[in-house]
Amino acid sequence: MDQINVFAPATVANVGCGFDVMGFAIESIGDEISIKKTGKPGLKITEITGCEGLPTDPEKNVATIAIQALLDSLNNKIDYGFELKLSKNVMAGSGLGSSASSSAAAVLGVNELIGKPYSKKELVQFAMEGERAASGLPHADNVAPSLLGGFTLVRSYNPLDIIELDYPKELYVSIVHPQIEVKTSDSKKILKREITLKDAITQWGNVGGLVSGLAKGDYGLIGRSLEDVIAEPVRSMLIPLFHEAKESALNEGALGCSISGSGPSIFALSKYKNTAKNIGEAFKNVYHSNEIEANVYVSNINPIGAEIIK
Ligand code: HSE
Repeated sequence: MDQINVFAPATVANVGCGFDVMGFAIESIGDEISIKKTGKPGLKITEITGCEGLPTDPEKNVATIAIQALLDSLNNKIDYGFELKLSKNVMAGSGLGSSASSSAAAVLGVNELIGKPYSKKELVQFAMEGERAASGLPHADNVAPSLLGGFTLVRSYNPLDIIELDYPKELYVSIVHPQIEVKTSDSKKILKREITLKDAITQWGNVGGLVSGLAKGDYGLIGRSLEDVIAEPVRSMLIPLFHEAKESALNEGALGCSISGSGPSIFALSKYKNTAKNIGEAFKNVYHSNEIEANVYVSNINPIGAEIIK
C-alpha cells in the first residue's frame, strides 16, 4: 500500500474534573489526512485546507512532528518518505483537540503504511509529541481518545498508562464553540501552579466519581462529578458568556457542563438525544442573542477513534 486516507475525531479533554487526564471522542467532527509514500526519506506537507495559518514546514506542523517521533523510534529503518495533505475540520484554538486530531491521524496513517509496528495505544506516545509542539506540554488527554475512541483516562504519564473507560451507550454531548481563539499555551499559563489540599480533595473525589458513574451508567453520579474547582474558575474568565451558557444547559436538563479542553468551547453531557439537541439550541440562543458567532455540535460519543477511510 502506497497511499492512505485517515480520519481522527475531535475530542473533549479534561471532562470537567480530569484536568490533563480525561477525555472523550466526538462523533460528528474530525480531521482527515491523506498520506502518500515517496521515494526518498523525508516529510512534506503539500496542502492544508479548512484552517488558515497552520505551518506547512514539517519541523513546525504537529502532524509531521508526531510522524517524525514515530520514525525516530524505529532508528531510521524506513528508507522512504511521506507526503501529506491535511483537511482540517477541527479549528485550531477551539478547545476541541485540533492539534490532537491531526497528530493522531498522522501517526495512525504512517503506522499503517509501514506495516503496523505499533498498536493504537502505543501510538499515543508519538502523537503526544505533536501536543508538546502545540502547547509546550506533551499531554495525552486529547490524543488518547482521538486515537482510541470512547472515554480515556491517563492514569500515569510516567510510565504512560492509558485506560480505556467503560461508559453508557446512551450519552450525548452538546458543544458550543464561540468564535474566538484561545491558545492552549496561554490558557495553561493562567492556571495557578499550586492548589489547596481542599481543592485537590474535591477534584480527585470527582474524578473517581466520574469514572465510577460512567462504568455503572449512573447518570446522577456522572452529573455530580462534572465539577472542576481547578481550571474552570480561572479559565472561564477567558470565555464570553460562559456562566450564562452553563446555566442554560443545566436548565435544559444537562447532566453537567464545563469547558472543553482549554476552551473556548463549552460542552454539556446528557442522557437523551432530545435533551442534547435542546441544549444545543439554548447554547445558540445565548451567543446569538448577544451577537457573538458560535458553532454548535450535538453528537454521540465516538467509540472507534482514528480510522482508515476510503
Ligand atoms: N488538558 C489540556 C488543557 C487540554 O486543559 O490545557 C488542551 O486541549
